Amino acid sequence: MEKTATIQIGDRSYEYPVIVGTENEKAIDIRKLRSDSGYISYDDGYANTGSCTSDITYVDGEKGILRHRGYSIEQLSESSSFMEMVWLLIYGELPRKADFDEFREKVRRGAHVHEDLKHHYLGFPPRSHPMAILSSMLNALGCYYPEMATNNRETDLERFDEAAAVLVSKVRTLAAMAYRNDRGLPYIYPRKDLRYSENFLHMMFSEPYNEFTDIHGLGHALDLFFLLHADHEQNCSTSTVRMVASGGANLFASVSAGVSALWGPLHGGANTAVIQMLEEIRDSGDDGTRFIEMAKSGKSLMMGFGHRVYKNYDPRAKILGNMTDKVLASLGKKDPLLDIARRLEEAALNDDYFISRKLYPNVDFYSGIILKAIGIPMEMFTVMFAIGRMPGWIANWKEIAEAPKGKIHRPRQIYMGKSERDYIPIENR
Ligand code: CMC
Repeated sequence: MEKTATIQIGDRSYEYPVIVGTENEKAIDIRKLRSDSGYISYDDGYANTGSCTSDITYVDGEKGILRHRGYSIEQLSESSSFMEMVWLLIYGELPRKADFDEFREKVRRGAHVHEDLKHHYLGFPPRSHPMAILSSMLNALGCYYPEMATNNRETDLERFDEAAAVLVSKVRTLAAMAYRNDRGLPYIYPRKDLRYSENFLHMMFSEPYNEFTDIHGLGHALDLFFLLHADHEQNCSTSTVRMVASGGANLFASVSAGVSALWGPLHGGANTAVIQMLEEIRDSGDDGTRFIEMAKSGKSLMMGFGHRVYKNYDPRAKILGNMTDKVLASLGKKDPLLDIARRLEEAALNDDYFISRKLYPNVDFYSGIILKAIGIPMEMFTVMFAIGRMPGWIANWKEIAEAPKGKIHRPRQIYMGKSERDYIPIENR
């Protein structure tokens, strides 16, 4: 394998080292390109740019492989739990029992939020989107832990373990409060005896004199949903978290930015957009054919399809697809949207447009149907993604904060605006 790559510009050539990752991913290290030659690389949307090296998650988009810290998503989803995934992503290894028990206890104990935080919710007008609330509240949460959110790398790292547990635990409390606030319902306090995902369902759906009981095993399904969303290397929101962290911002501020980045329909907001699309197809009486034609002509996007990295079936979509049947069966429910989704998938996978562009269902294609079955309202779908993605954001923040010579992320640009010109006073324009 080549150890260097040569870039020829005019009659001058420049040699740069080749970096090879654990799984044989190759990159040219062009960090000195500009100082050597005056040129920069141009890569709109960073489709070809490795913005960092990372030890956390590996994706082989061509083969449809996803591994966290070396463990396949199939193994983890079969045998692990979201809490174990949290530990694995943040600390790099599967936890030993004593460490894990201690961590879970911290998360269990940390589910309550400061009573004063309730007042922040009152400042949001009715119908505020829960993603806007969650992003704001995560930043506000940092104000209650100033000793963990100092914007001083060393100090923030000293308190990192506590901050990580606080965020993993309280993000679901804040999310449930956003939902209940929107509906004018009283906040429900977390319970210490419930597991992570069941506790979330309790905070969402219990009433003061009518506790939610998980008779259908929905907590387990939700746990798997969170696990499948836990990390996905340098996606839009994780890159945002790393970008914010690279300037030295604390963990709370960084993940709050991650929530905003996740909100968009091309990223985490796609789970909501998929259901809107399926409902539109259902309501128009279309069997999906017309919709597929519109997607092919560029008039609309087939939401939940396509991926920057996967040019094969997203392994998370496969697991979620199977899980959808199980959740609906355990509830004894049917969802016509699932039939539409399956028909759409089959039609698209046999259509040249999708085949030639290697467009397959992604993680968001089936997730909305599962969330809907669990009883999660549509405006909360992307919030659910955010709860799941929290450990990935935290692990990536840690990687940035611990990098010995980490640089601030500051890409360059190619300026295409007007050249220098003379100012004209207003009366002469
Ligand atoms: N429906 C129809 N055509 C599509 C779709 C789609 N969902 N996705 C990509 N294409 C076409 C696109 O128009 C382009 O066609 P052409 O070569 O003729 O110009 C070609 O496929 C390549 O697409 P691209 O836009 O260059 O791909 P990208 O890597 O920039 O975008 C994406 C990736 C996920 C933003 C895009 O596939 C998309 O918008 N999908 C729908 C939204 C969605 O499901 N997002 C969730 C992503 S997975 C979870 C997450 O990370 O949040």
